[in-house]
Amino acid sequence: MLNYLLKPIQVFVSTTTRNSRCIASLSSLPDTYQMLYKTCRDFAEGELKPNAAKYDREHLYPGDAIKKMGELGLMAIAVPEEQGGAGLDYLAYAIALEEISRGCASAGVIMSVNNSLYLGPVQHWGTDKQKENFVTPFCSGESVGCFALSEPGNGSDAGAASTTAKDAGGKWILNGTKCWITNGYESKASVVFATTDKSLKHKGISAIIVPKPTKGLELGKKEDKLGIRGSSTCSLIFEDCEVPKENILGEPGFGFKIAMMTLDAGRIGIASQALGIAQASLDVAVEYASKRMAFGKPIMKLQSIQNKLADMALQLESARLLTWRAASLKDNKKPFTKEAAMAKLAASEAATFLSHQCIQILGGMGYVSDMPAERHYRDARITEIYEGTSEIQRLVIAGQIIKEYGV
Ligand code: CAA
Repeated sequence: MLNYLLKPIQVFVSTTTRNSRCIASLSSLPDTYQMLYKTCRDFAEGELKPNAAKYDREHLYPGDAIKKMGELGLMAIAVPEEQGGAGLDYLAYAIALEEISRGCASAGVIMSVNNSLYLGPVQHWGTDKQKENFVTPFCSGESVGCFALSEPGNGSDAGAASTTAKDAGGKWILNGTKCWITNGYESKASVVFATTDKSLKHKGISAIIVPKPTKGLELGKKEDKLGIRGSSTCSLIFEDCEVPKENILGEPGFGFKIAMMTLDAGRIGIASQALGIAQASLDVAVEYASKRMAFGKPIMKLQSIQNKLADMALQLESARLLTWRAASLKDNKKPFTKEAAMAKLAASEAATFLSHQCIQILGGMGYVSDMPAERHYRDARITEIYEGTSEIQRLVIAGQIIKEYGV
């Protein structure tokens, strides 16, 4: 099943540098995961890392890199091969996404949204025709999709969607605004959550696939963001936007459940993106500390620096194990809502902590854009916000614990 992904390995010259570490826990996984890891690591080192600062500085969508990632199978990792995907599992996805994000966190989120938030629900709930039109063309990296849940008036309270989809015979007519949409600018289709019956609250929300362009769908301005500046974020504005009736995903009124189940999987993706940012921060910190001299020796020899490195590695590796556990539970068709929320919470807080400590170790050099530390710090911040804030992850975890105890 891994042939697809492993075939192009030779295309990318291994540029492994002294500070590129190997993930210790990987050695206990089957060879196929280790080969996938190496393919992604080489791609990230050769194609993403050298360009990440430019993508960030110029707000540049890494279109060529995304196409190459599509050729490697990375844009549709868990989609079956017969539908154009790589036919792999979520553990493979987590490993690949971490490595891609270690090279460029913007490429990481573009990949995560296409895989988890767009292809995930269409592949799972779509009809054969929907899969033919809206899955297969989105596997190669030529086209990306997006997921439109948040609105100006609702973010964390996802059930309060006020965008409407009116049943008008053979079509839906959509009105409203969706905001903070990752990939919104480049996307060729979107899974849009709209209420088909407001009186039913979250039970009136439906998921509808809207291709782009479609008359009545306009884009808002591209947001000027603190981090992940290589990915686009914008609003989708619907004004009497007509979509064929058959574009509904699943049953009318099932949209909220689709959103929640999709986000469970998406949180494994964002956890992996955060791990990549955290690992990149540790790489920079170790490299710098091994060279920077103070008090007559490399600062790595100072206990205060060693304490920081130990705390950084501890948070990173704990979060990675939580992420891989959530992915494995999903792969084994076991409940994973709590575990995905724990992984996302731990990994995003680890990314914030490690990128902060990385700057502390680099001192002034960490604060200027000559070094990637400040970019990692900016990129890390959003991982605690999108696909559910840290506060929402705690709510989800607590909700599951209460259920488990039956109290
Ligand atoms: N799986 C399946 N069903 C679920 C579920 C899950 N994980 N979570 C909740 N549900 C079901 C419940 O069982 C319940 O079903 P019934 O009505 O049949 O009883 C229903 O959904 C409502 O559940 P709650 O009462 O728990 O819902 P709530 O309104 O209290 O909200 C919430 C729960 C966890 C706070 C939810 O609103 C949430 O996750 N909010 C965060 C939204 C979010 O992550 N937004 C990110 C936007 S996407 C993004 O960032 C895009 C990007 O581009 C990167």
